Amino acid sequence: MTAPKRPRLVVLISGSGSNLQAFIDASQNSTLDAEIVGVVSNKAGVLGLERAKKAHIPCEILDHREFADRESFDAELGERVSSYQPDLVILAGFMRILTPKFVNRFAGHIMNIHPSLLPKYPGLHTHQRAIDAGDHAAGATVHFVTSDLDGGPAIIQAEVPITSGDTTDILASRILVQEHQIYPLAAQWFCEGRLTLNNGAPHLDGNALPETGFPFSTANTEQ
Ligand code: GRF
Repeated sequence: MTAPKRPRLVVLISGSGSNLQAFIDASQNSTLDAEIVGVVSNKAGVLGLERAKKAHIPCEILDHREFADRESFDAELGERVSSYQPDLVILAGFMRILTPKFVNRFAGHIMNIHPSLLPKYPGLHTHQRAIDAGDHAAGATVHFVTSDLDGGPAIIQAEVPITSGDTTDILASRILVQEHQIYPLAAQWFCEGRLTLNNGAPHLDGNALPETGFPFSTANTEQ
């Protein structure tokens, strides 16, 4: 008997790729039953590409500056991503706004992680904005990608405290620890068929998820 085909993941990055590393680790230790079949970066020389090479994952650079406009970059990116025949596309620190055409091409099969408790603080500088607002908590949210920037339906959210004296770097590292747990977990749910989109609303095991996604805490890592 042949082993069942593992779901195929393509990961898009622009930088250090610590979330990519979490996916690599999870797929190697079988907490994520999927194969990372390709990594595409819009930037050369980033650490994420080194991580992919070290794990023997095919990777490539597609520099957005070599394209006349966003549409032509996204068209080529879409071709490259499709060539891997992915079941799921993972945006992991991919610092490009994607056109509706690209997003629609992979609709229901593309996820992002955003370092805030969405719907709070979509966009950039999330950690500083949370600190400046005097918030007592921050976090990260995994969501399906729609053409609404950081506005697609939430899948899972992890919260961390903001403590006095926190800098953006300290807060970002505290949040990253959570990101590395919740993002592969969301992908695993998807790959197992437990996470579905019914009329645009994410469901886990047939139950509609809360607006802000499944509330993750380290107490429920067995989910
Ligand atoms: C993470 O904070 C993620 O939430 C955001 O970009 C950052 C990427 O970090 N979208 P890394 O490249 O995965 O280390």
